[in-house]
Amino acid sequence: MIKLSSPWVFGGAMALAFGLACLMVMSTPNTAPAQPAAAEAAPEPAPPTGQVYTGAKRCSSCHFKQAASWKKTKHSNAYNELPEKHRADPECMKCHVTAYGVEGGYTGGATPELLQGLLGVTCEACHGPGSKHEEVCKPFLNVKKLSPEQEKVARDSIYKILPGNICAKCHLAIVHQEHPKYEGMKEKK
Ligand code: HEC
Ligand code: HEC
Ligand code: HEC
Ligand code: HEC
Repeated sequence: MIKLSSPWVFGGAMALAFGLACLMVMSTPNTAPAQPAAAEAAPEPAPPTGQVYTGAKRCSSCHFKQAASWKKTKHSNAYNELPEKHRADPECMKCHVTAYGVEGGYTGGATPELLQGLLGVTCEACHGPGSKHEEVCKPFLNVKKLSPEQEKVARDSIYKILPGNICAKCHLAIVHQEHPKYEGMKEKK
């Protein structure tokens, strides 16, 4: 007799549940695609518009902990990893630096310091530009413990994660598309 915990039964049940979920999605007329139960209840309020990029150093000056963990990821090294001859190649920059060609971001007009702060996949690649967030938070620099109101004002002025599946913007290359070819690229098995 097959026990219920058998991987086959479990797998079959999962497949069935998934199929049903898909059917339910497909048969819901004229509504936005069904989302899996959201982890957080309320959607995050949109931060103020018109923010420009400030670079990772400025973010890190207030967020030591996150900066330290980010430093350990390949994101922080994504530019340095580029072979020499591709370091000004727009074809590579769009995923290996932050906000390439975006207004207020990695563009011709940016100061050398800002350009430096946007090399690699930096804070603002995932959180969006933070100039106004910084302005909002500066007065709190000497506050030992933020009040709930202050914390809300600070948090509402920047995205926890940019909407629109921001990870996929760069990682699509490992889903359906292929990573652009370059000399010395490791062969995928
Ligand atoms: C002047 C200090 C300061 C600077 C500079 C600063 N932040 Fe913050 N940030 C805060 C404070 C204060 C909060 C409130 C929550 C907390 O205490 O961490 C916050 C919250 C956040 C949050 C949480 C948002 C949420 O919805 O919960 C993110 C993400 C964030 N900051 C990213 C950034 C990024 C990216 C930059 C650089 C563009 C940056 N911060 C620059 C002080 C700062
Ligand atoms: C601006 C483009 C960009 C965005 C946005 C982005 N990534 Fe990446 N990611 C990269 C690049 C480029 C690398 C490879 C860096 C390297 O190897 O030098 C990478 C590497 C990684 C790695 C391997 C990291 C390691 O340290 O081993 C993971 C995991 C990853 N990304 C997940 C994510 C997730 C999850 C998100 C969204 C929250 C995200 N990425 C957003 C471009 C991006
Ligand atoms: C669509 C976004 C995108 C573009 C465009 C892109 N990359 Fe990447 N690159 C990534 C991501 C995501 C990773 C990490 C995951 C992976 O290896 O697929 C990565 C990883 C790398 C790595 C580390 C590979 C390793 O084996 O550790 C190098 C080097 C690299 N890219 C070079 C380039 C060069 C050179 C170009 C331009 C010809 C380029 N990339 C264009 C997204 C991109
Ligand atoms: C690849 C995308 C990515 C990059 C790059 C990134 N973050 Fe985040 N960050 C996230 C995600 C996703 C979350 C929410 C989940 C979590 O808390 O781990 C987050 C959460 C945060 C928070 C909120 C923590 C809290 O108290 O709720 C802060 C602050 C923050 N990041 C700051 C930074 C700073 C500063 C940098 C750069 C030094 C940075 N992040 C780089 C994706 C990123």
